[in-house]
Amino acid sequence: MTVSDRDVRQAIIDACIQMNELGINQGTSGNISCRHGDGMLISPTSTPYDTLQPEDIVFMGWDGAVDGRLPPSSEWRFHLDIMKARPEVNAVVHAHPTYCTTIAIMGRKIPAIHYMVAVAGGSDIRCAPYATFGTAELSAHAVEALRDRKACLLAQHGMIAVGSSLAQAMWLAVEVETLARQYHGALQIGEPPILSDEEIENVIKRMASYGLRDKEAAA
Ligand code: 13P
Repeated sequence: MTVSDRDVRQAIIDACIQMNELGINQGTSGNISCRHGDGMLISPTSTPYDTLQPEDIVFMGWDGAVDGRLPPSSEWRFHLDIMKARPEVNAVVHAHPTYCTTIAIMGRKIPAIHYMVAVAGGSDIRCAPYATFGTAELSAHAVEALRDRKACLLAQHGMIAVGSSLAQAMWLAVEVETLARQYHGALQIGEPPILSDEEIENVIKRMASYGLRDKEAAA
């Protein structure tokens, strides 16, 4: 079953609205992209999600050429660079979830405080160094922080989650914010114990078929 251009555009709008309903984003500070044809479809910059029409979602080719009636998200660069660097990634979700951003303000990664850290692909969720939003420098930091991972924090900024589908990326974004909240809570009591790399490897093997049961072929 092929997913039509309009369906992907509407799925991006629905996911943007859902980000705010789930409390993992504030205002219009998040942005979402889906691989599509010879490029990607991405949310427009600074536009209230509940006003978005499918035509407002912007197509951007791999060369950065834009086709749309609104300008693309100011973070288009890391969306494009992540998709170019990671052929298995079909969707990128960027948001400013409160607890992820709190940890990222402190420049800290999320260590293996809980076995679910493994859902992001390894024994930690890295925090990319700070760089100004929308820059090639921030994009390079994000691509590096996502190496062998499906999520990262951005120092003094927010969080990125990626997935083989939009549903997977959204699911992971919620999981990462939950982990950040748990880490923040544990830090109130003291320095939390960390699971070993061996145990996270063990969990990753057991999780080989674990994750969101995604019926979407793509989107
Ligand atoms: P938009 O340009 O997509 O509104 O995003 C703002 C932002 O998230 C900057 O990091």
